[in-house]
Amino acid sequence: MSVLRVLTATVCLVPTVALVAFAAGPGQQSGHIDKPVTGKTIAVSAANVSYREVVEPLLKADCSGCHSAAAHMSSFNLETSDALFKGGSKFGGKVIVPGNSKQSLLIAYLRGAQQPRMPMNGTAISEAKIVRIAAWIDQGAKIDQAKLAWPYLPPVAHTVPKVKNAAWCRNPIDNFVLAKLEAKGLKPSPPATKVALLRRVYADLVGVPPTPQEADAFLKDFSPDAYEHVVDRLLADSRYGVRWARHWLDLVRYADTHGFENDGARPRAWRYRDYVIHSFNADKPYDRFIKEQLAGDELYPDDPDALTATGYIRLSPWDELSTDQPQRWQDYLNDATDTTGSVMLGLTVGCARCHNHKYDRITQANYYSMQSFFAASQRSDLRLPHPEKDTPAFRAIVTEADAHLAPLRKQMQELKDRYRAAALMEKAKTAKNGEKVEVNDDEIRGAIERSERQRLESLDNEIRHLEDEKRPYEPEVEAVTDSGKTAPVEHLLLRGNLLTPGPEVKPAFITSLAGNVEKSATVTPPANLNSTGRRSALANWIASADNPMTARVIVNRIWQHHFGRGIVGTPSDFGRNGDQPSHPELLDWLALRFVQDGWSIKKIHRLMLLSNTYQQSTQTSPAAVKVDPINTLLWRMNRIRLDGESLRDSILTVSGRLNLKMDGPGVYPKVSDEVLSTGSTHKWGFSPEAEGLRRTIYVFQRRSLVLPIVEAFDGADMNNTCPRRAVTTIAPQALALFNGDFSRDESRYFAERVAHDAGDDTSRQIDRAYQIALIRLPSPAQKKLALDFIRQQTELHLGDGRPNSNTRLRNIADTAASEEARKKAQHAALADLCHVLINTNEFIYLD
Ligand code: HEC
Ligand code: HEC
Repeated sequence: MSVLRVLTATVCLVPTVALVAFAAGPGQQSGHIDKPVTGKTIAVSAANVSYREVVEPLLKADCSGCHSAAAHMSSFNLETSDALFKGGSKFGGKVIVPGNSKQSLLIAYLRGAQQPRMPMNGTAISEAKIVRIAAWIDQGAKIDQAKLAWPYLPPVAHTVPKVKNAAWCRNPIDNFVLAKLEAKGLKPSPPATKVALLRRVYADLVGVPPTPQEADAFLKDFSPDAYEHVVDRLLADSRYGVRWARHWLDLVRYADTHGFENDGARPRAWRYRDYVIHSFNADKPYDRFIKEQLAGDELYPDDPDALTATGYIRLSPWDELSTDQPQRWQDYLNDATDTTGSVMLGLTVGCARCHNHKYDRITQANYYSMQSFFAASQRSDLRLPHPEKDTPAFRAIVTEADAHLAPLRKQMQELKDRYRAAALMEKAKTAKNGEKVEVNDDEIRGAIERSERQRLESLDNEIRHLEDEKRPYEPEVEAVTDSGKTAPVEHLLLRGNLLTPGPEVKPAFITSLAGNVEKSATVTPPANLNSTGRRSALANWIASADNPMTARVIVNRIWQHHFGRGIVGTPSDFGRNGDQPSHPELLDWLALRFVQDGWSIKKIHRLMLLSNTYQQSTQTSPAAVKVDPINTLLWRMNRIRLDGESLRDSILTVSGRLNLKMDGPGVYPKVSDEVLSTGSTHKWGFSPEAEGLRRTIYVFQRRSLVLPIVEAFDGADMNNTCPRRAVTTIAPQALALFNGDFSRDESRYFAERVAHDAGDDTSRQIDRAYQIALIRLPSPAQKKLALDFIRQQTELHLGDGRPNSNTRLRNIADTAASEEARKKAQHAALADLCHVLINTNEFIYLD
């Protein structure tokens, strides 16, 4: 297991930061003046250096830790151009002399000619950067219009492009894609086969393969809208929410435990998981979905769902044993800010915690202003409003536990009552005169006679056990609320350090995303609540059609899961360090359409799935590979591998054992002792077998222990947000799928199902096994191979699995009595074939 852990530990880490010089990225207008590196030899007239594009970001990145609106040392603030020209308390406006960099103290400070060199106590900024700033001053230090570029500008309504092969386009998505293909002389691929398409859309929408009946119905339906009907049926299927909730849970790092060394359970966390599943199934408008999670308690205080949703804010790992409470609280605030930034805004906001963002237009002041929206929050375990509306099954469990608890509690009370007097007498002995004597629970317990101690202990145990069983079903949630009408004062933390608070910050939106206007957010405390209203302000801003990021980011995520790669390949980083969009106009078009359609996720699925782009085959073409090797332009469909959860669910589907029950606390499938011994000190729980066969999303999600098959197939590490699963090919995958107990056990059930459907005839069994696993019949060659395989394996099993066992003896013993043994051997051989089928690429990859 240790190898496996090491290999999969690399999954979903925050993308590595490329330490490139700031101005080397796109948008840089004057790269060529970089070459000579001494100021004197540079021909500054060669190109205009833009203040907005070059100078402002440079100064902000390296200086505004100390010279910003928030932290203005020497009264010098260089975050706005006005303030920059005003200068500081020592030299005033003289730090910049337009047209003369030599007389400008700003440059002298940077080179160290004026002491102390700036950035003070930091690494000197490179000569190449200084040269650029000097050039800008020599060119007159002009301030150009603030020009925001991708991704800070709101989506633009692009016209749907015209294409030569208009007949190929089923909806505007196809026009956008085809226009780019045609521009490169590429053609789309032919449509996928019906079988491939069906397997693809099932895996995509519900995470499991179709049954042979469902497949048959589709394959025989030749009406033009047969596929459309399947899409609509699957979107309405409750398994859809189960599948798509997984993608969201990956982002918000959902787990049923707290993480850290202790990794203690969070008995009510599952209500958030179920909330997400039901929200997807109900096609809850995405703007509402966001508002509920950020501020459901303030915006919809009577809605149990909305209260449950606020659990989002506290899903981060939480060190229960922390001895540094202030730091733990700061970690919580950081995590809520960073995760909200990357999940909902698609920007690495967290990079501005210790310094201004080195690549994107996010200052440290922006960061802490955003964080201050969470400043008044507190983690509250709350009773749900309208507990009577909770699921009847859960209410029944609570009622039953209460019925068992009542007599036990009564017995306990009686026991204690009998010793209360004794405890009082004992205490009175040491009490001062006139003092009123009272005893607490511990003192009463201490007075209980030895002979009854055992009874006390067993009552204690029984009560605790029942309470533990009941707790997860109580109508209670792990929510977040505000601690009052006013928030504690928040400070910018210099270098991100709690011990070095900087100036005070107020709630404000990230300037570059708010039309580049610096102003505080308007926060209105909700009328009848003891709450600040801060999180509502944040939620309303993020879930607004005016926010340039929100809609784009979510449609891109949906696209990513359908097509295997986002239009922006770095789905949680639309900034400069992320990938450029492959189809920016399409992304904008989709984002606008999404908002127009009432933020409906199901409508956007439909649009994508019904496009011809989605329905292409995965077939590759050498000519196209030359032009676009990684298929950025989508001249074919990407081949997608099932993720660990889908793989497990698919295997259980073909074995016929998947339990589709929804809702409720996490379950514990059987896991080998070997695996458990590598986990945390907490034991894996026990569930009845049928419960352990539920969809993987319902498996108790321990931060320190992931199901082996899921872990081997690049499961997500829930200590961090995971925007994109890794797809590695590593040896433990073969070990899990070929040698693992799970796949071997399920292969036997799969074989039973086949034998049940097909009877004893081997040829029919093979057909059936193919139909169930791959929804097609074997080719004649495959049929022959399978027949031979079963024959050989039967012999092997008859000979106790040893290829060299004595066939002569066996022939003599081959009487009617051994017919039973032969049958068993044949069945084992069939199970081997089934085992092979779930190990095929065809099963694991979507063509
Ligand atoms: C770690 C904090 C820190 C950083 C980072 C920093 N400075 Fe300073 N800066 C100071 C302090 C403190 C002073 C006052 C120094 C003094 O007079 O002794 C100052 C003074 C200045 C002044 C003089 C202003 C005046 O007229 O009073 C300029 C100009 C200046 N800094 C420019 C910069 C530039 C440009 C950068 C970024 C490359 C930068 N500083 C980064 C702390 C910092
Ligand atoms: C916990 C604090 C912290 C966080 C969070 C952080 N950094 Fe830094 N970073 C630093 C420190 C400290 C330095 C070195 C001093 C400096 O340049 O401010 C640094 C330096 C850098 C540098 C080199 C600066 C240069 O001009 O050579 C880059 C680039 C950088 N960080 C990028 C990032 C990115 C991208 C992220 C987000 C993924 C990030 N940082 C998050 C603390 C942090």
